[in-house]
This record gives sequence, structure tokens and C-alpha cells, in this order.
Amino acid sequence: MSQKGNITFTMIKPGAIANEHMGSIMNMISKAGFWIAAIKFIKLSQKQAEEFYLVHKDRPFYGSLVEFMTSGPIIVAVLEKDNAVSDYRKLIGATDPSKAEDGTIRKIFAESIERNAVHGSDSNENAIIEADFFFARSERFDRII
Ligand code: CMP
Repeated sequence: MSQKGNITFTMIKPGAIANEHMGSIMNMISKAGFWIAAIKFIKLSQKQAEEFYLVHKDRPFYGSLVEFMTSGPIIVAVLEKDNAVSDYRKLIGATDPSKAEDGTIRKIFAESIERNAVHGSDSNENAIIEADFFFARSERFDRII
């Protein structure tokens, strides 16, 4: 955990990448005051997607979600800011884009509740678990000013 703020973990999902929204979304993240402490452009394996979303394994959408999340490249990133988890959830909006507020990332870029443009951690504890799932300590760069 950083000394300057706390962290959240995000993914820009395959639909948003395929529709070329990566730059616009990263710009919104930076403009909202988040420091990008770590970032990678990767494609999830079946095993990684199943493990990342294991908490949803009994939900009817689990299989479809895993298929979608492995359908193309994604951005994974660790974001640092005071109140990172709650501020990022405000920036991205509700999981269901039809319920997301105007101006939020999901309202602007999501295609559906499943293809909802981005993931954001739901607690400080999960942010740490999710960041550690993808990034080694040597791949993370805390804000120094
Ligand atoms: P995310 O924030 O990544 O966390 C779990 C994901 O499951 C969620 O975003 C959506 O992509 C997906 N999801 C959640 N609820 C539903 C649903 N009712 N139908 C389909 N997909 C869902």
C-alpha cells in the first residue's frame, strides 16, 4: 500500500478496448486525479478470468462473463488516490449502465451490464488482492510527489 494515498484496481474490458475507448477512459481517470501506479495490456487466460471472478461462480452470468473477459485484450491497472476505491466507483458509475449517472465512464462507454467498459474494486481489501493478482511489487510505482 502506498504512503501517499490508497489504491484501487481497474480493468478496461474487451468491449471498450475493441471500440477504441482506451485513451478516452485513461484520460478520464487521470483528469479525476488518480495516479496510475501500475499498468499492463494483456489478454486473460480462461484460468485467470475464472479465478478473478470466482466470487460470481454460482451466478447465471459467470460463464458468459468469463467468455467475454477472455475475448480480447484488456488493460489492468492500479490507481492511487485518497479514497481511491469510493472515488473510482463514483467515476465509473453503477454496474448496470442504465442506472449509471450521466458523465460516468460506464454511462458513456458501457454496452450492457456485462460489457460495462470497466471493472473497479469494491473494497480496500479487494483492491489489494486484485492488484496483487496481476502485479509484482517491482511493477508498481507509488506516487512520489
Ligand atoms: P465487474 O465490476 O467487473 O464485476 C462483476 C461483473 O459481472 C460486472 O462488472 C459485470 O461485467 C458482470 N455482471 C454483473 N451483474 C451482471 C448481470 N446481472 N448480468 C450480466 N453480467 C453481470
